[in-house]
Amino acid sequence: MTNLDQLLREAIELFNGIDNTVELEQAKARYLGRHGRLTELLKGLGKLAPEERPVMGSRINQAKEALEAALNLRRDVIQEKQLEERLVEEALDVTLPGRGLGTGGVHPVTRTLERIQSLFHSMGFTVASGPEIETDFYNFTALNIPENHPARAMHDTFYIDNDGKDGQLLRTHTSPVQIRHMEGNRPPLKVIAPGKVYRCDSDLTHTPMFHQVEGLWIDENANFSALKGVLGDFMQHFFERDDLPVRFRASFFPFTEPSAEMDIGCVMCQNGCRICGYTGWLEVLGCGMVHPNVLKHVSIDSEKYIGFAFGLGVERLAMLRYGVTDLRLFFENDLRFLKQFN
Ligand code: DAH
Repeated sequence: MTNLDQLLREAIELFNGIDNTVELEQAKARYLGRHGRLTELLKGLGKLAPEERPVMGSRINQAKEALEAALNLRRDVIQEKQLEERLVEEALDVTLPGRGLGTGGVHPVTRTLERIQSLFHSMGFTVASGPEIETDFYNFTALNIPENHPARAMHDTFYIDNDGKDGQLLRTHTSPVQIRHMEGNRPPLKVIAPGKVYRCDSDLTHTPMFHQVEGLWIDENANFSALKGVLGDFMQHFFERDDLPVRFRASFFPFTEPSAEMDIGCVMCQNGCRICGYTGWLEVLGCGMVHPNVLKHVSIDSEKYIGFAFGLGVERLAMLRYGVTDLRLFFENDLRFLKQFN
C-alpha cells in the first residue's frame, strides 16, 4: 500500500510542477487514462484475494478522488495565472488623454462658390445645372457660335472621340446651361448655373478644370441697367466694400449683343501692383444682353423678352478675395494651405 501512497505523492508533485493545461492533461492521462497507473491498479483488483478486494478497491477510489481534486486545483491555479498574464499583456491605460477628432473643412473654392450662390440667392436667383459632358450643339451652335466660327478656336476644347458621331466634348463654359434652362422653362427666368468647366490649358494661371458661375435673367425689362445694378451690387457684397469701383468695357461674345467685360477697382493695392498690371483695375467677368439668335434657338419671342447673361470664374474671385497669388495652390491639396480657410 505504500505503493499507492507513493504513487499519489509522486503524481501530486508532478501536477504541481506543471504550468500549462496541455501538459497537465497529459500528466492526468498517465495516472487516470485508459492505461494510466491507477487504472491499471483497478484492473489488477481481480487478481487479489476476495477479502482484500473491497479494501483495496476503496483505497484506489480514494486515491483517484484525491488525484482528481489535485488536478482541479492545479487547473484553477494555471488558469488564474494565464488570466493574470493576459491582463498584464493587454493592459489598456484608460487614463491616457484622447487623440481628438480631426474636423474636416470646406475647400476655399467650395466656400467661394457657396458665397456666390448665397449672394445671388438673396437677389432672387435660383440654381440651374447641366452636364459636364456636352454636345457641340449646346456648347457652341445654340450659343450663336456656328461651325467654323473663330470663336470655337478661342476655347481650347477637350473633344471626346466617339467615332465621328455628333461631337461630344467637355463643356468649356457654363453657358450651355442657359440653353438647357431656356428649353425647359419659360420667362421670366432668373438663374445662376455654377459648375466645373474644362479647357486644354495648363500654366501658372490656368488649370484644365476650373469653376464658373453663369447667370441669366430673362424678362420683359431685364435691361442693361439691371445688369449693371445686379453685378455691381454683387461685387460690392462679395468683396465687402461699398465703395468698390466698377466699370464695363465693350467686348465681344457671340451669344450676347452688346457684350461687355466688367472690371473692379483692384482689391490688392491702392496705386498699382503686379496683380492689376499697374492699371488699378481687375477684369472679373464677361456679360452682355442675350443675343436674339440665342432666344430664337429656344423659341423665346425676342420682341417681347430681353435679358442679360454673365459668366464669372470662381477661382479668380477666390484668389482676389483671399489674396492667393498662385492658382495651383487650390489643387495641390496641401493641408497647410487649406487649413487657413477654416
Ligand atoms: N462663357 C464665357 C467664357 O467662358 C463667359 C461669358 C461671357 C458668359 C459673357 C456669359 C456672357 O454668359 O454673357 O468665356
